[in-house]
Order: sequence, then C-alpha cells, then structure tokens
Amino acid sequence: MKKIVILGSTGSIGTNTLDIVTKFPEQFQVVGLTAGTNDEKLAEQLRLFKPAVVALSDEPAATRLRARCGNIPVDILSGVDGVAQVAQWPEADLVISAIVGGAGLVPTLAAIRAGKKVALANKEPMVMAGQLMQDEARKQGLRIFPVDSEHSAIFQSLEGHRREDVRRLILTASGGPLWDLPKEQMQDVKPERALQHPNWKMGAKITIDSATLMNKGLEVVEARWLFDIPSQQIDVLIHRESIVHSLVEYVDGSVIAQLGLPDMRTPISYALKYPERMPLELPSLDLADIGKLTFHRPDHERFPCLGFGYEALRIGGTMPATMNAANEVAVAAYLQEGIRFSDIAEVIRTTMETHTPRDVRTLEDALDADRWAREKAGTLVHALAR
Ligand SMILES: NC(=O)c1ccc[n+]([C@@H]2O[C@H](COP(=O)([O-])OP(=O)(O)OC[C@H]3O[C@@H](n4cnc5c(N)ncnc54)[C@H](OP(=O)(O)O)[C@@H]3O)[C@@H](O)[C@H]2O)c1
Repeated sequence: MKKIVILGSTGSIGTNTLDIVTKFPEQFQVVGLTAGTNDEKLAEQLRLFKPAVVALSDEPAATRLRARCGNIPVDILSGVDGVAQVAQWPEADLVISAIVGGAGLVPTLAAIRAGKKVALANKEPMVMAGQLMQDEARKQGLRIFPVDSEHSAIFQSLEGHRREDVRRLILTASGGPLWDLPKEQMQDVKPERALQHPNWKMGAKITIDSATLMNKGLEVVEARWLFDIPSQQIDVLIHRESIVHSLVEYVDGSVIAQLGLPDMRTPISYALKYPERMPLELPSLDLADIGKLTFHRPDHERFPCLGFGYEALRIGGTMPATMNAANEVAVAAYLQEGIRFSDIAEVIRTTMETHTPRDVRTLEDALDADRWAREKAGTLVHALAR
C-alpha cells in the first residue's frame, strides 16, 4: 500500500490521480491533500478519501473548510506553510506535485528535502529552479518522476538505453486551438476560444499556455533539468493528433517513441507505480482507425513564446523564473480579459529584456526573481489594460 499526498488535489491532474486511487483502493492510501481556494471540492474529497491532513493555501477558504468539516477527524492547515507541511507529511511515501504555477515551488522543494519521492506534474517549479531541485533530489538519493505526458514519454523511451547514446529529445506539441489562425487574427482571440483545446482537458492556465506554445517553452526547460540534457539537444515538433507523446533519437539513427490515446491517467499511473504498469482498462489505440499521423515544424513567428524557453535557458540563472512569472501574470490578465492574446508574449518579452539575471543558488534567489518579474509584468499589464 503506497501512502500518497496530492498537492493540488482539486485540479485536473489531482482529480485524475484520485480517479486512479478510486479504481485501485488496495494499492494507495491518501494521507494528505491540498488545494488553493476550493474548500467545497476539498471537503468532498476529504469525506471520500479520509486523509490525515489537508491544507488550503487561502486562509479564508481554510476557515470555511473547518466550519464544513468540524466533525471529521482531520488536521486542517492553511497558508503556504500549511501546504508545505502536508508536502513533508511523515507517513507519505510519494508526493504528487500538481499545483498550478510557481506556487508549487515551496511545497515541492519541501517534499524533496524531506526525502519524499515526487511525481511532478507542476512544471513551473522545475522552470524556476530546476538545478536546485535536482541537486536537492540527488542529495536525498531521489529521482523525480515526470507526469507531464511528453516527459513521461521521454522517460519511458530512455528506459534501458545508455544516456551517452542519446542524440536528441523530441518533444511533441499539439499546437493548441489556434494553430491554423493567421497572425493578424491572433491578437483579438477571446479566452473562450483559446480555452478550447483540441485534444486535452486541462486547467485554464496550461490550456492558454498550450494556445501560445508557452507550455512547450516551459517543457523545454523542464526537459533540460529532468533529463540533464543541453537545450541544443531538445527539439519540438508539432503533432496535431497528440498520439506520439514524445521521442528520443539515438546516435545510430534509431528513434524510440511512446504512443497512446491522450489520457493523463496513463502518465500519472506510470509515475505512481514505476516500474510497474497499471491495468487502467482504457480504450486501445487503433492506428488503422486513426489512419495518419502528421508532423510539422513549429512556427516561431506566430508563436514566439516557444523561443522564450530556449532563450531563457541560454541566458540561464534567474531568467527562466522571470519568464515563468511574467507568463503567469500575463495569462491571468488575459483570462480576465484585461489584455489581448498577443499581449501575453509582449509582456513576457519585455519583462525578460529588462531583467538582469543572477545565479539561482538558493530558493530565495528563485523567489526573488519571481517577485521582481511579477511586479514588472504587473506594471506592463496595467499599462496595456483595456
Ligand atoms: N491538466 C493536465 O492535463 C496537465 C498535463 C501536464 C502537466 N500539467 C501541469 O500540472 C499542473 C496542474 O495543472 P492542472 O491543469 O491540474 O491545474 P488546475 O486544474 O488549475 O489545478 C490546479 C490545482 O492547484 C491548486 N492551486 C492553485 N493555486 C494554488 C496556490 N496558490 N497554492 C496552492 N494550491 C493552488 C488548485 O486549487 P483550487 O482548486 O482551490 O484553485 C488546484 O488544486 C500545472 O503545472 C500544469 O502545467 C497539467
């Protein structure tokens, strides 16, 4: 029986993870859950899964949860510290890191420092402080297991092969809902349209990141640290069908890929039970039915955010954290219809151009850059506000 904590249990990855737990109750025990503000959903989960501890980062939401669940024997914690405490819960064997955004950095690093195995969906901490997280994991003798479908595919395609034989990693991208849209129509795309992802049902922030291709820019940085490989050996390929989840090319010309229908329960379950596979009873992939798979080079002119990921890695230090924070601020403003779709890239570009990078030696270095970039991007958003 594996004892698990889920950070971000009320979100898309969190609920998919709990779906797996429900199907295999003899294999997992939920000992801790956390969310941001959604006390109603967390209360439901708490009744169903009976964890020993839960936390909400939002204090008023935690007060509401205490009022809702006064008769249930559970520790209800609050604030950033409360979430970090759940991440280090002594009984936990595995922490599923599924908070959205940079808010996941403190608890995810706390879990690693406490010697917990981590299944990482929350890519933004790896972007902000990838080297630091991997150094801490190495100190603890831990491996961080990828949940992101592309990184899980690479992880699987690397299994049983020598790392020195790898020529490049190829991350696939669906291209998102705006892939075909002419440049002149992109600036005024409304959030309702940008939120219509063709293949995946995900949280709002990552869905907008998919529409701008910032998600792939973040994933390039994530891959650099997860697999300890320079960005010059990481390529991106647009693959509209989201069947080939990513590929590894070896020095002899062989290419090994992982394929499957787009369902996050596959990579989540692999991270939960590695090296075993779980009988999820999902529909079979019928390639004859699909008929053809298509691949294209990304269009950097219409989707500049992908290039920001490479540029942030080239500059290094605090630049990836700066890029990530500017993106979070810009996406939040766009979702509230405060700025236009095309402004997202401009806010990130200007924030990065005005940043003087420093090394990320400590958590504080990453958090300082994050704070600086949020303030800078906030000012830019304010100036652009409609
Ligand atoms: N969804 C996918 O299929 C997918 C695939 C690959 C990678 N990922 C990555 O996985 C992460 C989660 O994505 P998602 O789509 O599951 O997001 P989501 O549906 O928006 O869920 C986010 C979760 O984080 C919690 N949260 C939000 N802000 C928080 C804060 N400040 N402090 C503590 N908790 C907070 C939310 O709680 P509330 O409900 O209370 O707001 C919710 O539980 C992201 O980094 C994303 O890039 C997602």
